[in-house]
Amino acid sequence: MEFPIKTGAPASQKTACAILPVFEGRGLKGPTREVDLSCGGLLSQLVKSGDASAKLGETLLVPHLQGTTAQRALLVGCGKQAAFDAKRLRRALTAAVRKLRDSGLKEATSYLTYTRHRGLSAYYAGRINVEATHAALYRFEELKSRSEPRYKIAKLAIAIADRQDAKEYRRGTSHGHAIAIGTNLARNLGNRPPNVCTPSHLAREARALGKRYDRMDVSVLGEREMKRLGMGALLSVTQGAEEPPRFIIVRYRGAGARSAPVVMCGKGITFDSGGISIKPAHKMDEMKFDMCGAAGVLGTMAALGELQPDLNVIAIVPACENMPGGRASRPGDIVKTMSGQTVEILNTDAEGRLILADALTYAKRFKPRYLLDVATLTGACVVAVGHLYTGLFSNDDKLASALLDAGTRSLDPVWRLPADEEYGQSLKSNFADFANIGSREAGASIAAQFLSRFVDDTPWAHLDIAGSAWLSNAAKGATGRPVPLLTDFLLNL
Ligand code: BES
Ligand code: MN
Ligand code: ZN
Repeated sequence: MEFPIKTGAPASQKTACAILPVFEGRGLKGPTREVDLSCGGLLSQLVKSGDASAKLGETLLVPHLQGTTAQRALLVGCGKQAAFDAKRLRRALTAAVRKLRDSGLKEATSYLTYTRHRGLSAYYAGRINVEATHAALYRFEELKSRSEPRYKIAKLAIAIADRQDAKEYRRGTSHGHAIAIGTNLARNLGNRPPNVCTPSHLAREARALGKRYDRMDVSVLGEREMKRLGMGALLSVTQGAEEPPRFIIVRYRGAGARSAPVVMCGKGITFDSGGISIKPAHKMDEMKFDMCGAAGVLGTMAALGELQPDLNVIAIVPACENMPGGRASRPGDIVKTMSGQTVEILNTDAEGRLILADALTYAKRFKPRYLLDVATLTGACVVAVGHLYTGLFSNDDKLASALLDAGTRSLDPVWRLPADEEYGQSLKSNFADFANIGSREAGASIAAQFLSRFVDDTPWAHLDIAGSAWLSNAAKGATGRPVPLLTDFLLNL
């Protein structure tokens, strides 16, 4: 998909289809008005008659425009002009792109961001245009024996009024392109079934990143090395599975060796049955998405590989299955983590924190500037914030506010939740240093508190993506979050 930037008056530009905004209020404005004037008032008639609507996301395709250089117009409802921001741009463009795809057109020109809108910089306008288009066109069809015909749309020109904005737009579209590549990788990994997307599969995909991108190296540890490192918590989770575990390290070296890296650990449970504390059957298939933390950090590495920024970033993925079986860990088992702390496993379904405990301990050897972890960790986080927000927990206010800002800018929002030490009280164990579960209330904060015991004073943030990483029901599938968030955060360090 190409996204050239075009300057010049709407009525002078040749295109198969001009995507034109319709804002609320009397009379058409801006580029829509210009095109309307050159085609004898047809567009304003359609709005008057109610065929075209200003309601956000409504579309009307008008074929055979006469008297103007655009062959067709796609009228897109954009709501109130004063309220049009990045989020509304995404909604409007998503509707427009789906319509273009269904109409079979090969090319179009968007005027949705022709004039500058309040609260929407040229950079983010360019970036969101590209991200939203790729997201709207995404389909996961690798495993359908008969795929739908491929869409024809291959070029979306972005028309802008002010020539001076072109450079920032181009920077935005190139970042948008990189983020779309990372997001699509994360979505594909998340959507692949658990018999395909195994720990070894994640390792192969990681190795492919190392081959594809400059300044990126990948190493993969097997079970023997995990044993040697004393990763007793991770090993206890994998021990019920036949599928071998993998511990994946992806290093991106964009800055000198003296510059401390950002390290991101992504939970890579390729299937979470719950283990001996087995989950109910209803929607258990969705536990293939329990590797979306891994997908998110690998997707972010792909975006970095595309952009080659001057910083050091390391992704760490502990990957295994959580299965029941004769060798599986039992409730009551006590394991020794790589940190030396012992944990009583009271529920084998609280496995994410166990594998992350050893990943976080391992991560500290890199002396990170910031240590992040990304995980579909708790159902409690979904109860708290639903699918709209990623839950953020942090021991460092500066890091937390950088992530909050990145979330707002990238339309991949996070909400900070508490992680006070008091939440750890219910993790008390009579037999080990602490247990892997606490009381039911504030389950997401208790999980965060558990993780914090493996990071000590390192500035750390935990992103619980249990709600944001995938959707259920009709739109069932991986969202690719938090690739936009993490990429934005890293690019703004
Ligand atoms: N992968 C799940 C968390 C999850 C559940 C994500 C539902 C998305 C939807 C995690 O491993 C888990 O099972 N967590 C338990 C923890 C509990 C046993 C303390 C949970 O949230 O119920
Ligand atoms: Mn679980
Ligand atoms: Zn899990």
